[in-house]
Amino acid sequence: MDKGRWDRSRGAELNHQFNLEWLSRCQRLLTADGTIWVSGTQHVIHSVGFAMQQLGMKLLNDIVWEKPNPPPNLSCRYFAHSAETLIWAGRNKQTKHLFNYRLMKEINGGKQMKSVWRIAAPRPQEKAFGRHPTQKPVELLERIILASSREQDWVFDPFAGSATTGVAAVRCGRRFVGCELDGKAVELSRQRLQAEIATGYGGTAVG
Ligand SMILES: C[S@@+](CC[C@H](N)C(=O)[O-])C[C@H]1O[C@@H](n2cnc3c(N)ncnc32)[C@H](O)[C@@H]1O
Repeated sequence: MDKGRWDRSRGAELNHQFNLEWLSRCQRLLTADGTIWVSGTQHVIHSVGFAMQQLGMKLLNDIVWEKPNPPPNLSCRYFAHSAETLIWAGRNKQTKHLFNYRLMKEINGGKQMKSVWRIAAPRPQEKAFGRHPTQKPVELLERIILASSREQDWVFDPFAGSATTGVAAVRCGRRFVGCELDGKAVELSRQRLQAEIATGYGGTAVG
Protein backbone atom coordinates (compact mmCIF):
# COMPACT_ATOMS: atom_id res chain seq x y z
CA MET A 1 0.00 0.00 0.00
CA ASP A 2 1.36 3.44 -0.95
CA LYS A 3 1.04 5.55 2.21
CA GLY A 4 3.02 8.49 0.79
CA ARG A 5 6.62 9.60 0.20
CA TRP A 6 7.34 9.75 3.93
CA ASP A 7 6.86 5.97 4.17
CA ARG A 8 9.42 5.00 1.47
CA SER A 9 12.48 3.21 2.78
CA ARG A 10 15.89 4.88 2.33
CA GLY A 11 17.62 1.64 3.30
CA ALA A 12 18.07 0.10 6.75
CA GLU A 13 20.98 2.33 7.84
CA LEU A 14 19.55 5.70 6.80
CA ASN A 15 16.15 4.73 8.21
CA HIS A 16 17.85 3.90 11.50
CA GLN A 17 19.79 7.18 11.53
CA PHE A 18 16.51 9.03 11.07
CA ASN A 19 14.90 7.10 13.93
CA LEU A 20 17.86 7.87 16.20
CA GLU A 21 17.68 11.57 15.30
CA TRP A 22 13.99 12.16 15.95
CA LEU A 23 13.90 9.94 19.04
CA SER A 24 16.82 11.85 20.60
CA ARG A 25 14.97 15.13 20.02
CA CYS A 26 11.84 13.71 21.66
CA GLN A 27 13.93 12.40 24.54
CA ARG A 28 15.12 15.95 25.24
CA LEU A 29 11.50 17.16 25.41
CA LEU A 30 10.31 14.60 27.95
CA THR A 31 9.59 15.68 31.52
CA ALA A 32 11.08 13.71 34.42
CA ASP A 33 8.16 11.27 34.67
CA GLY A 34 6.98 11.65 31.05
CA THR A 35 7.14 8.77 28.60
CA ILE A 36 7.17 8.14 24.87
CA TRP A 37 4.99 5.75 22.89
CA VAL A 38 5.85 4.64 19.36
CA SER A 39 3.70 2.36 17.26
CA GLY A 40 4.90 0.63 14.13
CA THR A 41 4.86 -2.43 11.95
CA GLN A 42 7.75 -4.86 11.50
CA HIS A 43 9.35 -2.53 8.92
CA VAL A 44 10.28 0.09 11.48
CA ILE A 45 9.60 -0.99 15.04
CA HIS A 46 12.78 -3.05 15.55
CA SER A 47 14.95 -0.10 14.53
CA VAL A 48 12.93 2.14 16.88
CA GLY A 49 13.47 -0.30 19.79
CA PHE A 50 17.20 -0.52 19.09
CA ALA A 51 17.51 3.26 18.79
CA MET A 52 15.77 3.64 22.15
CA GLN A 53 18.31 1.27 23.69
CA GLN A 54 21.20 3.17 22.09
CA LEU A 55 19.82 6.41 23.55
CA GLY A 56 19.64 4.88 27.03
CA MET A 57 15.87 5.05 27.28
CA LYS A 58 14.08 2.73 29.70
CA LEU A 59 11.90 0.20 27.88
CA LEU A 60 8.72 -0.16 29.95
CA ASN A 61 6.41 -2.38 27.90
CA ASP A 62 5.78 -3.53 24.39
CA ILE A 63 2.09 -3.63 23.67
CA VAL A 64 0.54 -5.78 20.97
CA TRP A 65 -2.28 -3.87 19.35
CA GLU A 66 -4.44 -6.62 17.88
CA LYS A 67 -6.75 -5.59 15.02
CA PRO A 68 -9.88 -7.76 15.06
CA ASN A 69 -10.79 -7.48 11.36
CA PRO A 70 -7.59 -7.32 9.31
CA PRO A 71 -7.72 -7.47 5.50
CA PRO A 72 -6.89 -10.97 4.20
CA ASN A 73 -3.39 -11.61 2.84
CA LEU A 74 -4.09 -11.92 -0.88
CA SER A 75 -0.77 -13.60 -1.77
CA CYS A 76 -1.48 -16.43 0.70
CA ARG A 77 2.28 -16.58 1.38
CA TYR A 78 2.15 -14.86 4.78
CA PHE A 79 -0.05 -14.83 7.87
CA ALA A 80 -2.66 -12.08 7.63
CA HIS A 81 -1.03 -9.01 9.26
CA SER A 82 -3.26 -8.36 12.22
CA ALA A 83 -1.16 -6.57 14.84
CA GLU A 84 1.11 -3.61 15.45
CA THR A 85 3.66 -3.25 18.21
CA LEU A 86 3.72 -0.23 20.48
CA ILE A 87 6.85 0.45 22.51
CA TRP A 88 6.42 2.44 25.71
CA ALA A 89 9.63 3.96 27.09
CA GLY A 90 10.91 6.43 29.68
CA ARG A 91 13.51 9.13 29.13
CA ASN A 92 16.37 7.22 30.80
CA LYS A 93 17.10 4.36 33.18
CA GLN A 94 16.45 6.57 36.24
CA THR A 95 12.96 7.56 35.05
CA LYS A 96 10.20 7.20 37.62
CA HIS A 97 7.51 7.02 34.99
CA LEU A 98 3.89 7.98 35.51
CA PHE A 99 1.46 5.05 35.17
CA ASN A 100 -2.21 5.39 36.06
CA TYR A 101 -2.45 1.77 37.10
CA ARG A 102 -5.78 1.97 38.92
CA LEU A 103 -7.52 3.71 36.05
CA MET A 104 -6.30 1.07 33.60
CA LYS A 105 -7.56 -1.67 35.92
CA GLU A 106 -10.93 0.07 36.22
CA ILE A 107 -11.21 0.40 32.41
CA ASN A 108 -10.44 -3.31 32.19
CA GLY A 109 -13.40 -4.30 34.39
CA GLY A 110 -11.40 -4.54 37.65
CA LYS A 111 -8.66 -6.82 36.27
CA GLN A 112 -5.04 -5.82 35.73
CA MET A 113 -4.67 -4.54 32.18
CA LYS A 114 -2.57 -6.85 30.01
CA SER A 115 -0.17 -5.94 27.22
CA VAL A 116 -2.34 -7.26 24.39
CA TRP A 117 -4.98 -4.71 23.37
CA ARG A 118 -7.76 -5.70 21.00
CA ILE A 119 -8.98 -2.46 19.44
CA ALA A 120 -10.91 -2.12 16.18
CA ALA A 121 -9.90 0.11 13.24
CA PRO A 122 -11.22 3.71 13.28
CA ARG A 123 -15.01 3.94 13.07
CA PRO A 124 -16.63 5.69 10.08
CA GLN A 125 -17.45 8.80 12.18
CA GLU A 126 -13.70 9.17 12.93
CA LYS A 127 -13.27 9.74 9.18
CA ALA A 128 -16.11 12.24 8.87
CA PHE A 129 -13.76 15.02 7.70
CA GLY A 130 -11.70 12.78 5.38
CA ARG A 131 -9.34 9.88 5.72
CA HIS A 132 -5.65 9.48 6.39
CA PRO A 133 -4.01 6.28 5.04
CA THR A 134 -2.63 5.24 8.43
CA GLN A 135 -5.23 6.75 10.74
CA LYS A 136 -5.25 5.23 14.22
CA PRO A 137 -8.39 4.60 16.27
CA VAL A 138 -9.11 7.31 18.86
CA GLU A 139 -9.70 4.55 21.44
CA LEU A 140 -6.06 3.42 21.12
CA LEU A 141 -4.68 6.92 21.69
CA GLU A 142 -7.11 7.59 24.54
CA ARG A 143 -5.87 4.52 26.37
CA ILE A 144 -2.24 5.55 25.92
CA ILE A 145 -2.87 9.11 27.11
CA LEU A 146 -5.00 8.07 30.07
CA ALA A 147 -2.39 5.49 31.10
CA SER A 148 0.58 7.79 31.15
CA SER A 149 -0.36 11.44 31.71
CA ARG A 150 -2.30 13.77 33.99
CA GLU A 151 -5.04 16.27 33.13
CA GLN A 152 -3.63 19.44 31.52
CA ASP A 153 -0.31 17.72 30.67
CA TRP A 154 1.24 18.42 27.27
CA VAL A 155 1.09 15.63 24.68
CA PHE A 156 3.37 15.93 21.63
CA ASP A 157 3.08 13.94 18.40
CA PRO A 158 5.93 14.63 15.93
CA PHE A 159 4.18 12.67 13.13
CA ALA A 160 0.63 13.81 13.76
CA GLY A 161 -1.09 12.68 10.53
CA SER A 162 -4.79 13.42 10.97
CA ALA A 163 -4.18 14.36 14.65
CA THR A 164 -5.79 11.32 16.24
CA THR A 165 -3.42 11.89 19.16
CA GLY A 166 -4.69 15.47 19.39
CA VAL A 167 -8.35 14.43 19.31
CA ALA A 168 -7.72 11.92 22.10
CA ALA A 169 -5.68 14.46 24.08
CA VAL A 170 -8.46 17.08 23.93
CA ARG A 171 -11.03 14.44 24.87
CA CYS A 172 -8.95 13.48 27.91
CA GLY A 173 -8.45 17.12 29.00
CA ARG A 174 -4.77 17.31 27.95
CA ARG A 175 -2.97 19.93 25.84
CA PHE A 176 -1.67 18.93 22.42
CA VAL A 177 1.09 20.00 20.03
CA GLY A 178 1.75 18.23 16.76
CA CYS A 179 4.04 18.41 13.70
CA GLU A 180 3.01 17.26 10.27
CA LEU A 181 4.68 17.57 6.82
CA ASP A 182 1.62 17.08 4.66
CA GLY A 183 -0.62 20.14 4.19
CA LYS A 184 -3.73 18.07 3.50
CA ALA A 185 -3.26 16.15 6.72
CA VAL A 186 -2.78 19.45 8.60
CA GLU A 187 -6.10 20.72 7.22
CA LEU A 188 -7.81 17.47 8.17
CA SER A 189 -6.30 17.79 11.66
CA ARG A 190 -7.52 21.36 11.97
CA GLN A 191 -11.09 20.30 11.20
CA ARG A 192 -11.00 17.31 13.54
CA LEU A 193 -9.53 19.32 16.41
CA GLN A 194 -11.91 22.23 15.93
CA ALA A 195 -14.89 19.84 16.06
CA GLU A 196 -13.49 18.15 19.16
CA ILE A 197 -12.85 21.42 21.00
CA ALA A 198 -16.37 22.62 20.08
CA THR A 199 -17.87 19.64 21.94
CA GLY A 200 -16.55 21.21 25.16
CA TYR A 201 -13.89 18.71 26.22
CA GLY A 202 -11.25 20.15 28.54
CA GLY A 203 -8.13 20.08 26.36
CA THR A 204 -6.48 22.47 23.93
CA ALA A 205 -4.43 22.05 20.76
CA VAL A 206 -1.79 24.02 18.89
CA GLY A 207 0.20 22.97 15.83
C1 LIG B 1 1.79 7.01 10.50
S1 LIG B 1 1.27 8.60 9.99
C2 LIG B 1 0.47 9.21 11.43
C3 LIG B 1 -0.98 8.86 11.49
C4 LIG B 1 -1.66 9.42 12.72
N1 LIG B 1 -1.28 8.66 13.91
C5 LIG B 1 -3.16 9.42 12.54
O1 LIG B 1 -3.88 8.74 13.31
O2 LIG B 1 -3.64 10.07 11.63
C6 LIG B 1 2.76 9.49 9.94
C7 LIG B 1 2.64 10.93 9.48
O3 LIG B 1 3.93 11.53 9.66
C8 LIG B 1 4.11 12.51 8.65
N2 LIG B 1 5.56 12.71 8.53
C9 LIG B 1 6.47 11.90 7.97
N3 LIG B 1 7.71 12.42 8.10
C10 LIG B 1 7.58 13.57 8.80
C11 LIG B 1 8.50 14.56 9.28
N4 LIG B 1 9.80 14.44 9.05
N5 LIG B 1 8.01 15.61 9.97
C12 LIG B 1 6.67 15.72 10.21
N6 LIG B 1 5.75 14.83 9.77
C13 LIG B 1 6.20 13.77 9.09
C14 LIG B 1 3.45 11.90 7.40
O4 LIG B 1 3.06 12.91 6.50
C15 LIG B 1 2.26 11.13 8.02
O5 LIG B 1 1.08 11.89 7.94
